[in-house]
Amino acid sequence: MLIEENFSLKPHNTFGLDVIANLKASIEQTEDLEELFKSDKYRTVKKMVLGGGSNVLFTRNFLGMVLKMEIQGVEVMEEGDDSILVSFGAGENWHQCVLWAVEKGYGGIENLSLIPGTIGAAPMQNIGAYGVELKEVFHSLEAYEIKTGKMVRFFNEDCKFGYRYSVFKGAQRDKYIITKVNLRLSKKPSFNISYGAIKETLESMGVEELSLKSVSQAVINIRQSKLPDPAQIGNAGSFFKNPVVENGYFDSLRAAFEEIPGYRLNEEFTKVPAAWLIDQCGWKGKRLGNVGVHDKQALVLVNHGGGKGKEIINLSMDIQKSVQGTFGIQLDTEVNII
Ligand code: EPU
Repeated sequence: MLIEENFSLKPHNTFGLDVIANLKASIEQTEDLEELFKSDKYRTVKKMVLGGGSNVLFTRNFLGMVLKMEIQGVEVMEEGDDSILVSFGAGENWHQCVLWAVEKGYGGIENLSLIPGTIGAAPMQNIGAYGVELKEVFHSLEAYEIKTGKMVRFFNEDCKFGYRYSVFKGAQRDKYIITKVNLRLSKKPSFNISYGAIKETLESMGVEELSLKSVSQAVINIRQSKLPDPAQIGNAGSFFKNPVVENGYFDSLRAAFEEIPGYRLNEEFTKVPAAWLIDQCGWKGKRLGNVGVHDKQALVLVNHGGGKGKEIINLSMDIQKSVQGTFGIQLDTEVNII
């Protein structure tokens, strides 16, 4: 296993922040984890797992060891008439897995096209976009339990998936390292194009008959038009989660702000788009030094180049304060802050 010292994380975080990890190990197989966690030299060193680095904000150098997840492999485990169970190595690139499924005619993840990152990170926060969440196709995962050194399997219900949430962000945080993700994909896909922009985009593309490819391409087009490409401008997608407020409170907001959008989740709660709240507070397209708010999607904070993690944090706190002040709503971060 390759272990490097004073490793630059700049190419390994999509914010493009110029930080260093004391140590970095490339994890290409589960045995590498055993070797590390049993080694006298490295056992007690502080560690963090890094996939594609697309959902982290480094505020300083990492004083420890970064485990770069590089376990590869795509394997069909089970095939029936209607569905197929596929196992993906945690280090596989998420979007490449989507393209593979689309190409093979397996449905279920086409709406999740172009989400950056690795497949091992996908269950951590139950990635979602355009009306679909990972949990709808997730079968199980395999993970290395740090305390015992054993491999453990988590089925869908064990992960307690919620909106941008799983047990790996809660009670089981930092206790496991995901090595494989198993998805059940459909051989008879049904398309989910209910999310407004998809239908319009398919129309503007001149698509008459739906296919996995056309839906995937529509999502790619929407994302490319709204979200900045990290290769060009540093960002980690949505910086905040969409807040959930009590229905009564939402109704009082609507009385004051007629235009406020909201999606009633149930009899108790309504989800409000954070982007709208931030936009209303005048932040969209604003720039403070090297960092700022994306000009096409107010939920995305960007590093224009040379920005520091601390600058992004300061900007995010200013945004939180103004949304709190105007709407009385607390915005929580979606990105992991290190
Ligand atoms: N809006 C504004 N100003 C903006 C952008 C949006 O007012 O600058 C309002 C509009 O009313 C719009 C609403 O916000 O209808 C919702 O915006 P959008 O449909 O773009 O989705 P979102 O809620 O901002 C979520 C996810 C995205 C995902 C999209 C599409 C979260 C935190 N974000 O964004 O996920 O791509 O839906 O499904 O749930 C990510 O997690 O990194 C991410 C990009």
